[in-house]
Amino acid sequence: MKVVLIEGDGIGPEVTAAACRVVRAAGVDIDWVRADAGLGAAERYGEPLPEQTLDLIKHHRVALKGPCTTPVGKGFRSINVRLRQGLDLYASLRPVRTLPGIKTPFEAVDLIVVRENTEGLYAGLEHQVVPGVVESLRVITRTAADRIVRFAFEQARHSDRHLVTFCHKADVMRLSDGLFLECARAVADEYPFIRFDEKPIDNVCMELALDPTKFDVLVMENLFGDVISDLCAGLVGGLGVVPGANLGTRYAVFEAVHGSAPDIAGKGLANPIAVVRSAAMLLDHVGERAAAARVERAVARTLEAKVGLTRDLGGDGNTASITDQLVKNLGS
Ligand code: NAI
Ligand code: MG
Repeated sequence: MKVVLIEGDGIGPEVTAAACRVVRAAGVDIDWVRADAGLGAAERYGEPLPEQTLDLIKHHRVALKGPCTTPVGKGFRSINVRLRQGLDLYASLRPVRTLPGIKTPFEAVDLIVVRENTEGLYAGLEHQVVPGVVESLRVITRTAADRIVRFAFEQARHSDRHLVTFCHKADVMRLSDGLFLECARAVADEYPFIRFDEKPIDNVCMELALDPTKFDVLVMENLFGDVISDLCAGLVGGLGVVPGANLGTRYAVFEAVHGSAPDIAGKGLANPIAVVRSAAMLLDHVGERAAAARVERAVARTLEAKVGLTRDLGGDGNTASITDQLVKNLGS
């Protein structure tokens, strides 16, 4: 099976190499097709997201991606935003679950963050009105609002979840979130057996801090989803452990929630678990369900045993030692 691999930059090459090693050890023979994006690509092609990278994903349909830094102040638009818009990866899916062995204030967090991935405030439409005044456009379309809420309900249906919470700020952004809310209510009406709740996003933040266990599926606009994803990662052990998927009707790109972590890049200290678990989601997506479950079990065993863990998890190990443990804990 051929799958595109974008190493990315910063800690990207370190954590994606670990993920490829774990996938191979789990017994899945993937022929990784390397594609370039990020800082290196910007230097080599004068373009951080070369057209051939998009073409490779379009051809092979599925990719595992490391974090990519968009060079700031050089006129480039965000790689990640362009990738998601260019491949119409309209849904970002981040499962957030309490993991064994990691001490957190809550014991049984098990929720999914569904983020609209193509528009909202990240539509990328910004301009200067006059010097000293700029505008960013927050685009909400009925089509995108409808399909992301539908996606959230379908996720709920297929993973035996019973509550979808739509997060918004419709009292302030009356037109844009007003339309989103109206679409969410209409879709919810088609799913009478799944509970629907609508809450202001600031309220959701407070409730997540007080008791995240009462949430199930959260669905929201792009910027809200970016912020809430990191917040929720913090509830279960941080950015080093939470995986993610960007999904559309034709293509799927799997990547961690975290970025390129320039502060620890190149030192072999990064926690690969978020990307390893993203690779497990990829395995699940391509029908390798047993291998995906095996990888998830290995992650749980590794965290429980507390051997070789990286510093973000309170250990004194590194990327290599934790990857050794993951491979060992795959069992036979
Ligand atoms: P970041 O997620 O890279 O780092 C935030 C903090 O978490 C840092 O202290 C970092 O050391 C730590 N951290 C992140 N991942 C870790 C891991 N796997 N193991 C151990 N510690 C980890 O966020 P930041 O610093 O805001 O962004 C850095 C760059 O990454 C920026 O250029 C940003 O645009 C890019 N980025 C790319 C993303 C992507 O490609 N999907 C997503 C988020 C940011
Ligand atoms: Mg983010």
